[in-house]
Amino acid sequence: MIDFHSHILPGIDDGSRSIEETKNLLLEAKNIGITKIISTSHYAIDCFETPEYKREELIKQLNSENKYPEIILGSEIFLTYNIIDLLKEYKASPINKTNYILFELPLKEQFLNLKDLINKLKENNYKLILAHPERYYIIQKNFNYLLELKEMGIIFQSNYASILGYYGLNAKLTLKKMLKNNLVSLLGSDVHRENTIYPRIPRAIKKIKSIITEEYFKDISENNALKILNNENIF
Ligand SMILES: [Fe+2]
Repeated sequence: MIDFHSHILPGIDDGSRSIEETKNLLLEAKNIGITKIISTSHYAIDCFETPEYKREELIKQLNSENKYPEIILGSEIFLTYNIIDLLKEYKASPINKTNYILFELPLKEQFLNLKDLINKLKENNYKLILAHPERYYIIQKNFNYLLELKEMGIIFQSNYASILGYYGLNAKLTLKKMLKNNLVSLLGSDVHRENTIYPRIPRAIKKIKSIITEEYFKDISENNALKILNNENIF
């Protein structure tokens, strides 16, 4: 399994607080069968702004120990109108240096002119992955909004624990509906703290597998992520 969304690096954002916590998280992930983890530290202007080279150094150091799941460079970019500059200046990171970027939106408010910005990113050859769509109020309230984003080519990454109600009932119901409609392309932990999400994932997987086929699960827990890491199209 490939964990497509994590805050595993220490001291970069509101995720892991120390190298010890990071190592514990890596062991938790290994224990449940995760072999690769995309490091998607928050990149948010005026809040979390650790440039790519610093995160890359940490990843190199952890991977060199050769006893944990492999960590792969990425970012979870809080969407902003100058996102292209952040990418071109090696501040925020695409996934594994491909054309794919993982972005998040404000949870409660609508992002103005989202569609214009999506089009601009597409013109610049970026492929867009929206983090945990099931957690946004606007999508919980209006599923058509999600379908419109899908029409624009946006790929959806959902969080395992959403299915357990970890982010509330509305997120759980929205994820169920997404799964039933084949709208989820990737799954991730969105882990921030040790002893929180990873131990819950086996139970989440059982629930998810009661909704979708084994084959579809394999695609969204591993195959699609592998294609993205190779900069291939997933559909
Ligand atoms: Fe996240």
